[in-house]
Amino acid sequence: MTLPAQDEGSAMEAEFDVVARWTREAVAELGPEHGIPAACRGSASPAALDWLARACGLRAGTRLVDVGGGMGGPAAYAARHVGARPLVVEPMPDAARTATAMLGCTAVVGSGDRVPVRAGRADAAWCLGVLCTVEDKAALLAELRRVLPAGGSLGLFVLVARVEDPPDPPDGNHFPTAARLGVLLGEAGFEVVDGVALTDLPSPDREWQDRVDRVEAAIEAAHGDSPRFAQARDQERRIAQLMGEGAISAELMAAVAR
Ligand SMILES: C[S@@+](CC[C@H](N)C(=O)[O-])C[C@H]1O[C@@H](n2cnc3c(N)ncnc32)[C@H](O)[C@@H]1O
Repeated sequence: MTLPAQDEGSAMEAEFDVVARWTREAVAELGPEHGIPAACRGSASPAALDWLARACGLRAGTRLVDVGGGMGGPAAYAARHVGARPLVVEPMPDAARTATAMLGCTAVVGSGDRVPVRAGRADAAWCLGVLCTVEDKAALLAELRRVLPAGGSLGLFVLVARVEDPPDPPDGNHFPTAARLGVLLGEAGFEVVDGVALTDLPSPDREWQDRVDRVEAAIEAAHGDSPRFAQARDQERRIAQLMGEGAISAELMAAVAR
């Protein structure tokens, strides 16, 4: 798709930053109970977040760094459901602003190649739906390892390639194979202790899904004619297509820092 000059911008920026601002506006109209469902853009399911919280041993007071935490949906879920104390680190300014303004998260604008947390100061780290959008996965994993002490937990949600070079990937996405991911985790100083395919967990219940749908409908009504809307939707469509074809799959993993 060719965009007019004034609407140019990366597809990832449309998907993660512009949509974050629109989501904040839609939730302000629809009500705060829509915030967490609408802000879970990678993991997108309470069962997945419950699994991650359990596998990472989160409990009240756990210092959780959520790298690439987006609009803060998973972090806010962990705070609300297990009493964790999350910090969202997110490179897109409007996503970080949404995490704070819409969900009350502590959030900083920052990237996974330089996480603004001192070495060993987190109890657990999450990195959900992020590794597949990053080219230098070793650098990101090294940072995740750095902020954890030995024994600290890492929770991952990763779109894994099940074929060589999945066709027509969304812009900015680089899906690792499961084998490559295992090697990278080992080299970064992690031991994988548990894993599950997202499809093996229950889907979101009706109420959660209705809230997601209402926010999406409000965004479409307000911005459906924007080229940035088309750009963001095209990214989502390409991921859904690859999943449908079995070229990629969504995997949850828990690892421990050695
Ligand atoms: C699919 S979204 C997932 C957001 C959130 N983790 C969730 O599960 O709802 C991917 C996120 O990774 C962020 N991201 C992209 N590149 C990154 C990097 N180099 N370091 C940290 N985050 C990054 C994007 O801005 C986006 O918010």
